[in-house]
Amino acid sequence: MSDSSNHQDSASSNTKSQQGVQVHYRSDYKPYPYDIKDVYLAFDLAPNATIVDTTLTIQRKADADNQAPLCLDGVDLELLSIAIDDKELDQSEYRLIEDGLEVLNVPERFTLTTKVKISPDTNTSLEGLYLSSGKYCTQCEAQGFRKITFYPDRPDVMSTFKVRIEAVADKFPHLLSNGNRIEHGEIEGGKHYAVWEDPFKKPSYLFALCAGDYDLLTSSFTTMTGREVRLEIYVDKGKLDQCHHAMESLKKAMKWDEEVFGLEYDLDTYMIVAVGDFNMGAMENKGLNIFNTKYVLASPDTATDTDFIDVEAVIGHEYFHNWTGNRVTCRDWFQLSLKEGLTVFRDQEFTADQTDHGVKRIEDVKVIRSHQFAEDAGPMAHPIRPDSYIEMNNFYTVTVYNKGAEVIRMYQTLLGRDGFKRGLDVYFERHDGQAVTCEDFVRAMEDANGYDLQQFRRWYSQAGTPEVTVSSNYDADKRQLTLSFTQSCRPTPGQEDKEPFHIPVKVGLIDTLGKDIELKPVSLTDSDARVEGDIVHLKSAQQSVTFDDVPRNVIPSILRGFSAPVKLHYDYSLKELIFLFANDSDSFNRWQAGQELFSRVIFDLCEQQEKGGTLRFDDSVVSATKNLLDDNSLDGQFKSLALTIPGVSTLLEQTNSINIDHLITARDFLKKQLAEKLELDWLLHYQTNRHLGDYEQDKESVSKRALCGTCLGYLMTLEKDSAYQLALKQLETANNMTDASIALQLIVHSNYEQKLKVAEDFYQKWQSEELVINKWLSIMATDPSDETIDRIESLLDHPSFELKNPNKVRSLIGAFTSANPRQFHRADGRGYEYLARQIKSLYAINPQVSARLTGAFNRWRKFDSERQQKMRQQLEVILSMPELSKDVFEIASKALK
Ligand code: ARG
Ligand code: ZN
Repeated sequence: MSDSSNHQDSASSNTKSQQGVQVHYRSDYKPYPYDIKDVYLAFDLAPNATIVDTTLTIQRKADADNQAPLCLDGVDLELLSIAIDDKELDQSEYRLIEDGLEVLNVPERFTLTTKVKISPDTNTSLEGLYLSSGKYCTQCEAQGFRKITFYPDRPDVMSTFKVRIEAVADKFPHLLSNGNRIEHGEIEGGKHYAVWEDPFKKPSYLFALCAGDYDLLTSSFTTMTGREVRLEIYVDKGKLDQCHHAMESLKKAMKWDEEVFGLEYDLDTYMIVAVGDFNMGAMENKGLNIFNTKYVLASPDTATDTDFIDVEAVIGHEYFHNWTGNRVTCRDWFQLSLKEGLTVFRDQEFTADQTDHGVKRIEDVKVIRSHQFAEDAGPMAHPIRPDSYIEMNNFYTVTVYNKGAEVIRMYQTLLGRDGFKRGLDVYFERHDGQAVTCEDFVRAMEDANGYDLQQFRRWYSQAGTPEVTVSSNYDADKRQLTLSFTQSCRPTPGQEDKEPFHIPVKVGLIDTLGKDIELKPVSLTDSDARVEGDIVHLKSAQQSVTFDDVPRNVIPSILRGFSAPVKLHYDYSLKELIFLFANDSDSFNRWQAGQELFSRVIFDLCEQQEKGGTLRFDDSVVSATKNLLDDNSLDGQFKSLALTIPGVSTLLEQTNSINIDHLITARDFLKKQLAEKLELDWLLHYQTNRHLGDYEQDKESVSKRALCGTCLGYLMTLEKDSAYQLALKQLETANNMTDASIALQLIVHSNYEQKLKVAEDFYQKWQSEELVINKWLSIMATDPSDETIDRIESLLDHPSFELKNPNKVRSLIGAFTSANPRQFHRADGRGYEYLARQIKSLYAINPQVSARLTGAFNRWRKFDSERQQKMRQQLEVILSMPELSKDVFEIASKALK
């Protein structure tokens, strides 16, 4: 196929490492010299020959150079005609350049009309306009609009859009675009048309078009000022009964944003279209969100409790973008975290309000620790506001999104909830309708609160995870406790030395009875850290704070609620960790104490393996586990999280180099020991929490299911027939996907003899439910046994697999590389070879998804020299692939640097 991302530049040498890839820099920003007053687009939809007629009303900006050429972006477009003020241009009046078009000597005001031909049917990149499963769909963020028509495809060019769509009526009864439908009708030849107008100015990345034959769920919402908004969800035929949860989630999100932030919806209709082939989760196009089916469809028999929460969260996320993203958008793509960090923060708060704040906080931090810390420590490390990119799609990262959300959360910690809201009010007052920068956001926060955020700005400019080391010193005579802090941050690519961050560290002091004592900070020297309430403000490399009136044997609880995205080091004794695990009033730190306890045992077991002794660990870890399991005051979901041993990727980020075999063995050993020693306890809790009646979805039922899953997981490690029977029975009798999928996973990941038969039966039962089959693919791919590598090879030819569908690729290949460490990191290197071969088949089809997969090699430097060598070799294989997409090139070449 013609590959949009092939930037082979004829003038440059054709060695792979310098294939003319262009690096874009934040510092190069220049305003666009023209205003696009309005846009009229007319689509005549046809699979291989869609015609797009574009009319732009253009005016040169007053301060722009009057010689400035008009530069438009365009990729994979066949230009059929071009005219200015209705006069056709001849070849000398414009130039087709690589990925665009230049018109010289344009007047000050004019209309430009272009006609292009595109081919949605062969567009497998799922970017721009594409046809899949018989429906047309668009994805324009970040730079997909240039695959639809010639246009200044950058977020700071904002305009009002009017869109006419015409297509065959029987196949495409619904013709949708942004805003309001102002006209529609029949045309001859079995075709029909619709005209849409969006009254809000928007950048091109928020444009959307959908055409197809859908089932439609409608409802309505009355806003806080009494306006009636029509809500519509469009899905594949036959899926209507799986849309109700999405609809309820949308209404909750609309209400929540009004109540919490005073933000109201602004159009008459809010549409959501669910599509099966989509590169990401969902997209916030103005008035016409497009969603991956995974984040819309949910019914108890096909979706897990986690899926239900994810649907609600993503529906919320896209809805919240209407203010944080659409009404106020980004000046350029380096500012992406301006809308994404803020909107992730908002969706996290929304979910927390709908579910449980403590549990939600733990879930969010798990993502930071396992994924974001890894990114920050690897070759792709970048600040939440990156300084450069080769392919923007590679910067939709956990750093920009999730670390970005942590940075927003810190404003709330520093300024208080009210101060934070005041800051947002100023931000909207100043910038509604504009395309702005992260700096504008900081300034709004500063001005609204009279708070100096100068040093805080370093969170935007410096990459890497700060490390905070704390030690304590108790003066029994003075009854004073001093905490001494140091902070540092390792070098990241292009940033050797870092300046200290402003880090808010939330602390508590716990007495021997397990109660928090009152904090009475005293300032001894000028360099002491400032304390406000329970927040210690770290601002320099070394600082301390002293507390008065502290009884003996108090234990500090530091970084409560994960008040900053840092790694904390404090030398707790095993006893202290166990005490915190049983007593900390901060549920995040209570969970954290358990995680640290388990990690400590695991790394200790790794050392024992190096030395070659028999493996053992302290019995107090077992009793601590039992005590938590038996604590009736705790919610089941919290227990389930607290009793889950840290995953391999989280553990990997706690060490600089590791013997992966030892790590996995240690982790399995710990789990199996806890299973054996507490067998009756796991069984008892399994049985008392197992609910056999009708399916319920209230918080308590969800909690019980979660805890049962955890208990069953421990029991299954015993490899006993009694455990297998329990799991089989749960699978057979399950009246919901939560119970069914965890049982299936535990069976498939065990050594149960008949496991393949069980897997096959499950497949047969669910083969018509694509989303369930995707779970099945993941479960197959994450089986830790040695046969998995052959099995996932043949699954590539399985009827359920489809290389062109990103959900399938993520379920099979992505799950294997990210959630099956034992097999991906096979000593024989077959896991690595498998991945490289899949990238080879995929990069020309879907560059974005291929680049994501390539990232699995990012942490290669952590491993033993044989594995390092094998991973490096595959990265080199990837880089030698002909006409490699720049997406994959960027990831692979940075990994080797
Ligand atoms: N703005 C969308 C969201 O956060 C995601 C767009 C992702 N785009 C991309 N090219 N990866 O909801
Ligand atoms: Zn987003």
